[in-house]
Amino acid sequence: MYSSFKNKHLLTTQDWTVEEIKECLQVAARFKQERQLGIYHDQILRAKTFFMLFFEESTRTRNAFEAGIHQLGGHAHYLTPQATQIEHGETAKDTIKVLSRYGEGIGIRKTFGQGFKYMKSIADHSEIPVINMQCETYHPTQALADLMTIKEKFNNNLRGKKFVISWTYAPNYIRPLSMPQSLILLMSRFGMNVILAHPGEFNLRPDILKQAEANAREAGLNFEVVESMEESFRDAHVIYAKSWGPIMHTEDEKAGLKLIDKYTGWVVDQAKMKLASPEAIYMHCMPVDRDIEVASEVLDGLQSVIYDEAENRLHVHKALMALTMA
Ligand code: CP
Repeated sequence: MYSSFKNKHLLTTQDWTVEEIKECLQVAARFKQERQLGIYHDQILRAKTFFMLFFEESTRTRNAFEAGIHQLGGHAHYLTPQATQIEHGETAKDTIKVLSRYGEGIGIRKTFGQGFKYMKSIADHSEIPVINMQCETYHPTQALADLMTIKEKFNNNLRGKKFVISWTYAPNYIRPLSMPQSLILLMSRFGMNVILAHPGEFNLRPDILKQAEANAREAGLNFEVVESMEESFRDAHVIYAKSWGPIMHTEDEKAGLKLIDKYTGWVVDQAKMKLASPEAIYMHCMPVDRDIEVASEVLDGLQSVIYDEAENRLHVHKALMALTMA
């Protein structure tokens, strides 16, 4: 059933065709519906192992993969550099050559430094599928769960909808660019006009912006960058507002945090949500800085779909593992 996906890596959604992504989300939707009906999927990956290598912490990604492989009949190993010989300098090649002999799939999270390069070198030597669980550039599994959520909320009718990804103020720490970059790449491929809003210093990588423009052009849709949260929200159908760091502007953490403090007005509240279409939904990948990035009245309000997005990580991860590891 799943043979065309066997051993396929997912480092960025750009690696998968629109048709492949649609098929993956159909499998995820089926898993979701059948779980609600009490149907078990525990024979699909019976006795198979998924390695989860985390260089940084996680709540959703780790637990959605771990619960997911358990529901599919397999088992997850939680690995960190300190729990392996990676800490002592074992190469990506040797690490994955060995793990490929023990299990059927691996996910990696490395959001700072050269995460994507590390994953690529693992993938180049891997005999099992490699899933990007977030690097400094991409977060494909979150973006897929977000797309699944939007499809559900708009009954699969996404053509011409206005999708906004906006920067928010959040002074606690510097977050990577992987989320906004993954969203601007993916959403126009599924029929939406994409607006990216941020203060000047919070720009994304130029090559990713170029690719997002190309995706929109190919789909006959618009991709626009604006410097006003309010302007971006007008008549929007999807408001995805979250923080990221001024990483293209400065790599110095102190200077970055100082820059964030210039934009305390970039927070989401009900007044701003009223600028959007009455049917608009509010999205955030979480973790969220409550009442700093976004008012609790929005996060807990009727337009918020943040817990649906988090739930859909489980179904999408199950689909990815079933498709690539069965
Ligand atoms: N959204 C997300 O990736 O959450 P975690 O960092 O908790 O995995």
